Amino acid sequence: MKKINEICCIGAGYVGGPTMSVIASQCPEINVTVVDINQERIDAWNDADLNRLPIYEPGLKEIVAQSRGRNLFFSTEIDKAIDKAQMIFISVNTPTKTYGKGKGQAADLKYIELCARNIARVAKNDKIVVEKSTLPVRTAQAIKNILQNTGNEVSFEILSNPEFLAEGTAINDLLNADRVLIGGDETPSGQMAKEALSGVYEHWLPKEKILLTNVWSSELSKLVANAFLAQRVSSINSISALCEKTDANVQEVSKAIGFDSRIGPKFLQSSVGFGGSCFQKDILNLVYIARSYGLNEVANYWEQVILINDYQKQRFADNIVTSLYNTVSGKKIIFYGWAFKKDTNDTRESAAIYVADALLEEKAEIVVYDPKVSEKRIYADLDYLNTREPTENRRLLKVVKEPIEATKEAHAIAILTEWDEFKNYDWKCIFHSMLKPAFIFDGRRLLDTEKMNEIGFKYYKIGES
Ligand SMILES: NC(=O)c1ccc[n+]([C@@H]2O[C@H](COP(=O)([O-])OP(=O)(O)OC[C@H]3O[C@@H](n4cnc5c(N)ncnc54)[C@H](O)[C@@H]3O)[C@@H](O)[C@H]2O)c1
Repeated sequence: MKKINEICCIGAGYVGGPTMSVIASQCPEINVTVVDINQERIDAWNDADLNRLPIYEPGLKEIVAQSRGRNLFFSTEIDKAIDKAQMIFISVNTPTKTYGKGKGQAADLKYIELCARNIARVAKNDKIVVEKSTLPVRTAQAIKNILQNTGNEVSFEILSNPEFLAEGTAINDLLNADRVLIGGDETPSGQMAKEALSGVYEHWLPKEKILLTNVWSSELSKLVANAFLAQRVSSINSISALCEKTDANVQEVSKAIGFDSRIGPKFLQSSVGFGGSCFQKDILNLVYIARSYGLNEVANYWEQVILINDYQKQRFADNIVTSLYNTVSGKKIIFYGWAFKKDTNDTRESAAIYVADALLEEKAEIVVYDPKVSEKRIYADLDYLNTREPTENRRLLKVVKEPIEATKEAHAIAILTEWDEFKNYDWKCIFHSMLKPAFIFDGRRLLDTEKMNEIGFKYYKIGES
């Protein structure tokens, strides 16, 4: 087996940064260089103040502090890092295409292709190239074609090693992974490459948790894992709507079904809808792939998971309007939370964006507080939707750093992210500072119904009538 001691990772994002930090911390004899074209991001990774790392993840700054400058480096010198490395991880973004064929569904592979061409141009000796990004099935073949036509007699092994971490718990997920999936060619050199990568993970994970498969199964498994997880959320969310009509309680239903060992308790929490950069894009991609093979029934089946998620966000916004006597125009609505989930500063596809957009269309005046998301990010998210002029977004929506003060004379509070700190607020004091009746729309089922009713709130909790 080839011993690896020089790794390069292209892409210093939510996956590349934490994954490589953990590899460096667990494998002191391996030099890990994380490169990116984004100078600002790399500068933030190198910031002496660890509170300014570009990504917020519990436990990340401690791990970076351990290894940075020792065997973990962040740089924009991409060519130099590729040249030195024996193993190159590609961890760049693979967003949904916004143009051309497959627009709105297929994964945009332009960043992946640029990486492959960069590697092909620079490499002077044999390399193992690892797809860490989530990719459509059979992408490895495209990468291989690009790499094998370099003409400089270098041989490449392409592995698929999808990442299963969840933001907010990334470090724990990496250190205690349920499994690591490594797909590669079933040739002797492919097998050797798989074992070399397995050797990296074996520094801290038992060998039984490292699954070696063919490359296509590995690529497809990542899309399917996300589709199944998102499907559970959409399934319970569809039931939350029914609970609200029937006096059933979604929490009791999910507990009752989760006790069935065939179903299990995880990912059965009803909410305002899933967000994050991956679920929607990966399902859309699966839908696109199925349709491109003529499997329309399969495509339609998985598409429903997205449609229920859109419905849930819209339903939440509509309920706010209806409850506030069919108009929110000029009414002050406080948003607690903007991130797509707690313990991350990532806002990609966050439900908050879409709920805000729907309420801004109704001319609500929104005030947002999120402990980790910047004002710049919030406006960028809204502007990206292109629903109205950026000046209008800034006029109607304000971002604050003082969550309690903001509630003065507010008509309603909407909880969009399940940050723990919201639970411990002085809700009596908040009630007194709001206009009456004071509404809370709890999109995360975070607060105690009885307590909120006792204080005097008109309290709506998703999944309860
Ligand atoms: N975010 C997650 O929780 C998660 C989990 C599992 C898998 N994934 C997958 O991992 C991949 C990366 O996701 P992410 O959330 O880290 O994305 P991200 O946008 O946070 O990071 C990607 C980085 O790649 C850089 N980049 C793009 N093209 C480049 C190039 N040619 N050369 C150098 N750098 C380049 C970008 O500047 C950016 O900093 C995606 O395919 C995603 O689906 C993400």
